[in-house]
Amino acid sequence: MTNLYLIGNWKQHGSRAAIQAFSEQWSSDANSRLRIAIAPPFPYLQVLDKALPDCELAAQDCSIHAQGAHTGEVSADMLADLGCQFVLVGHSERRQYHDETDELIAEKLAAAQSAGVTPVLCVGEQLTARGAGEQYDVVRAQLRSALAKSQPNLLIAYEPVWAIGTGLTATPDQANDMHAMIRQELESLLGASHSTPILYGGSVNAENADALFACPHVDGALVGGASLDAATFIAIAQSASNNLSH
Ligand code: 13P
Repeated sequence: MTNLYLIGNWKQHGSRAAIQAFSEQWSSDANSRLRIAIAPPFPYLQVLDKALPDCELAAQDCSIHAQGAHTGEVSADMLADLGCQFVLVGHSERRQYHDETDELIAEKLAAAQSAGVTPVLCVGEQLTARGAGEQYDVVRAQLRSALAKSQPNLLIAYEPVWAIGTGLTATPDQANDMHAMIRQELESLLGASHSTPILYGGSVNAENADALFACPHVDGALVGGASLDAATFIAIAQSASNNLSH
């Protein structure tokens, strides 16, 4: 394993006061192989960047357009201009509540890559699909349509929808098996030489992080609720750091 990635997705949470309080508690072990980023809502990108200079900056979404008459949209170029290293693309909440299609997600991926912002492509199955044993087919189809024209510079986040915000986490074996399948699929889609990092997301917390980071195919975590609390996020970062030193 070369690097681990820890990305906090704050979703629609945060305020200037909350960022200030988070930064007062924040400390991170300098570990050059652990990359830590936080994705706050758009208006707080610069606030967070100033408050937490040792964290990288991520955004939660981007437009497919570079610029123009698209009220409410934020382009990947603007994110690059603000110093964002990463942008989430195709999060299940965007797919589910904002009707994002595989085609749109492929366009967002391309927009991010051409702006020089690394996309974090989110994939994952619903509970019904897992119940029917179709989880691999669902994720494989998401990867194939999103990556049909993609460049290899991206991260993948496997987030089973049934584990998001539910307190249910995929077992380390479930996560590892899915990541192994994703890795195999990426090799055929992007070329065998690419070792795209694959993060796990879905109710990651300070208690389950150790076991997840210990999985050979898990290269990091995309953390929702548990990233809002500085002490918890620090504990998860510590798990990642300990894992790197084993
Ligand atoms: P939770 O960690 O709150 O389950 O959210 C996961 C997620 O959606 C991160 O993108």
